[in-house]
Amino acid sequence: MRAVSFESVGFSYPGSRQDKSSKQVFEGLTLTLVPGKVYVMSGPNGCGKSTFAKLMTGMLKPDSGRILIGENDMVWMGLSDIGKHVGLVMQNPSRQLIMQKPVDEIAFGLIHRGMQKDEAANVAKAALRDYKLTEIADTPTQKLSKGEQVRLAMASVAVLEPDWLLLDESLSCLDGASRSKVLDKVARLVRHGGGALIISHSKDLAYELGAIRILIERGGVSVVV
Ligand SMILES: Nc1ncnc2c1ncn2[C@@H]1O[C@H](COP(=O)(O)OP(=O)(O)OP(=O)(O)O)[C@@H](O)[C@H]1O
Ligand SMILES: [Mg+2]
Repeated sequence: MRAVSFESVGFSYPGSRQDKSSKQVFEGLTLTLVPGKVYVMSGPNGCGKSTFAKLMTGMLKPDSGRILIGENDMVWMGLSDIGKHVGLVMQNPSRQLIMQKPVDEIAFGLIHRGMQKDEAANVAKAALRDYKLTEIADTPTQKLSKGEQVRLAMASVAVLEPDWLLLDESLSCLDGASRSKVLDKVARLVRHGGGALIISHSKDLAYELGAIRILIERGGVSVVV
């Protein structure tokens, strides 16, 4: 399992047609996430937490500096290669759900990896049961509740067994049982040498999980153990 290192990362969103000024989110951000640990990231709205998660999954690329997975600069890695290492449940999970049927959503990534369709369907059905999603197996993914979408996105990511699991405010919309289930998965991943980054506004979560806190301030970062 590999560490993920942000080395002097700068990132800005380009300006819009109406407002041409670009939006600087990070400048000189340096931070290493070590596997075998849970990190809880917090910070005010708009400070860049979701942007950090998207940079770590390669959905966004740094303007300056570099992000390494182990020794490899992510800029030279394809998204499917990065996906073997990092899986993200997005803050707005409906954005990452692309299939109509939940079972196909979970199977999609597996088939993309080269698994036979029948086998992928079996794994997906087991994952639906695991995340208590069998009742909604026939509901279109875009019609699911937010909590159901988070569980489906989590199931879709978890079957791919990434080394790093990123949860962008995913816990706050889960009921107690689902929250425990997801946290069990995180604990299991970490026991097996993987790592997790949980973005959350909860002050107690890092304490509850014995996690390392990352506090992001606008344009900067500080780490508190
Ligand atoms: N696609 C985009 N284009 C332009 N600006 C963006 C875009 N996405 C985010 N931003 C801006 O970048 C900054 C960081 O956004 P980001 O979503 O990473 O914040 P966040 O810390 O996740 O906030 P929240 O707690 O509300 O989820 C914000 O000021 C936001 O308005
Ligand atoms: Mg966010």
